[in-house]
Amino acid sequence: MCGIVGITSFQNVVPRILKGLACLEYRGYDSAGIATIDDGNFEVRRAVGKLKNLKDVTHLNPLQGNIGVGHTRWATHGVPNEINAHPHSNDYVSVVHNGIIENHAELRKSLENKGYVFVSQTDTEVIVYLFTEYLKEGKEPLLALQSVLGDITGAFAFAIILKQNPDVMLVARQGSPLVIGIGQDEMYIGSDALVVSLWTDKVIYLNEGDYAILTPASYQVYNQKHHKISVEVKTVEFKENAVGKGNYNHFMQKEIFEQPKVIGETLLHYADHENFTTKLTTKADWKNAPRLSIVACGTSYYAGMVAKYWFEKYAHIPVDVDIASEFRYRDGVFLDKGITLVISQSGETIDTLMALTLATEQKQQTIAIVNVPESSIARLASDVLMTYAGPEIGVASTKAFTAQLTVLANIVIYAARQRGVMSLTQEKELLTDLFTVPGLIMTVLQNEAEVHKIALSLEKADGVLFIGRGTNFPVALEGALKLKEISYIHAEGYAAGELKHGPIALIDQETPVIVNAPSNDKWFEKTLSNVQEVVARGATVICLVDVIGQQALEANHIPNITLKMPMCSTFVAPIVYAISMQLIAYHTALLRGTDVDQPRNLAKSVTVE
Ligand code: M6R
Repeated sequence: MCGIVGITSFQNVVPRILKGLACLEYRGYDSAGIATIDDGNFEVRRAVGKLKNLKDVTHLNPLQGNIGVGHTRWATHGVPNEINAHPHSNDYVSVVHNGIIENHAELRKSLENKGYVFVSQTDTEVIVYLFTEYLKEGKEPLLALQSVLGDITGAFAFAIILKQNPDVMLVARQGSPLVIGIGQDEMYIGSDALVVSLWTDKVIYLNEGDYAILTPASYQVYNQKHHKISVEVKTVEFKENAVGKGNYNHFMQKEIFEQPKVIGETLLHYADHENFTTKLTTKADWKNAPRLSIVACGTSYYAGMVAKYWFEKYAHIPVDVDIASEFRYRDGVFLDKGITLVISQSGETIDTLMALTLATEQKQQTIAIVNVPESSIARLASDVLMTYAGPEIGVASTKAFTAQLTVLANIVIYAARQRGVMSLTQEKELLTDLFTVPGLIMTVLQNEAEVHKIALSLEKADGVLFIGRGTNFPVALEGALKLKEISYIHAEGYAAGELKHGPIALIDQETPVIVNAPSNDKWFEKTLSNVQEVVARGATVICLVDVIGQQALEANHIPNITLKMPMCSTFVAPIVYAISMQLIAYHTALLRGTDVDQPRNLAKSVTVE
């Protein structure tokens, strides 16, 4: 969602702020802006739409300054227009903000009563006038910041520059991420470590409630109690090309093709490739845990759904899987010694973070699977298991999903062993299967020409159904999500056995049905029957099957378009079949000419509820 970048320096910061904004684009936005202080005055440029529009504005009407803040806005309060775009400024301060000021309406009313005239529909504008009010009272910038923080509630991160103190930047964090970067005679701020790593490898991750005052040569961080604190300066490393597209046309394409390597690296961390055992451990007590609750959103939630099948089958533990935004409000029952496992690529998804907070308050043992180290979720969970996927920039999650499944598979094996229900032989079998995954994915990635043909049959569809059974049911859901989010075609995923309970009414000649049906799982015959039912109703069926599955389709004279999949074990099939789901969505979106990496209305990390 909204992205923040800022620099205070002894040199012009404008080109770098624009570059920083480009680095934040992946978060999703619908307008952008920049403010500097030049010769004692604020210079502000804002534009609706893509960053190119802002760059055009700054080209036509250039600005400069040794201090500046930039912002990409994902609209919450107020439509995406230039007036609502950040920075919001008056003659005293200029503010960029991520998150929501929950008590903005009452603050707005009281500020209006004092004579302030609001020009935008945003919640952010209250910060501008609150600040102004305290500065007018004669408060120093830091005291004014403390007073503002006392007034506002909600989840936010913001940065402020002040006309009267033209080298000072104030920042605060409460529920939304903010990182400080330390440079040589300059300081940086950003919504993530990726953006500040453009200029430095030394970063400070602000904790909840922390705020800071920065000048080009100094920084001081304070905690919620207004005490000066010394903070750990961490070193970030982003491998070369980790945040570029390389030779690919899109980040999503690059990230799909990185998966053999990503799974390989994640396995290297968690599994012993000589003994075929898992090296992963957790602090949680699996032996005595009465239940596991898995909580996540979107694609990460579907990873959790796959894991439920695995945990119940191999570790014999009852599992609930919840969408985080439901879990946190549904008055669920927490059992003594229960384990809550949250899954999040970004580690910043607000609902997942709040669900984790709730589980912590309810004395659950907590584990987080995240892709971003030092993210809010990583910092809160008692146990953190990283996915080693590297930065995921495409809004559609791809490599993070398969990396999550790889980590989950290892947790399942570890938990099963702790619970005394898995033999070493079985562990070795499962690990052997997992080590085949990078090679299997490479085989799937070679099928692009076939995928393109399938995309041609989907391109004009108004609706597409994805079906599967067992662990391939969540993969069907994931296939539908991928297709709808980047191609804007309406798509739904169903458990194949559920079709007759309603969705089969949607079937006609214009509605393609995509079927995930690995032949060697126990559901194959049943899925085949479901395929026959939809074929009988005139549907075009696209079957993802291995060679045995293909023979079965031919033997039963089932007309279909086939996407040939490699033979693989039931255990790893959801990881392997997910790759084809991603490729189908990607090629269909290409044909439809949509913005693959930054689809409309979407944000990469959803930091407001
Ligand atoms: O960062 P998270 O894994 O917590 O994000 C959860 C969802 O927002 C995310 O998976 C979303 O559904 C993706 N756009 C799916 O491709």
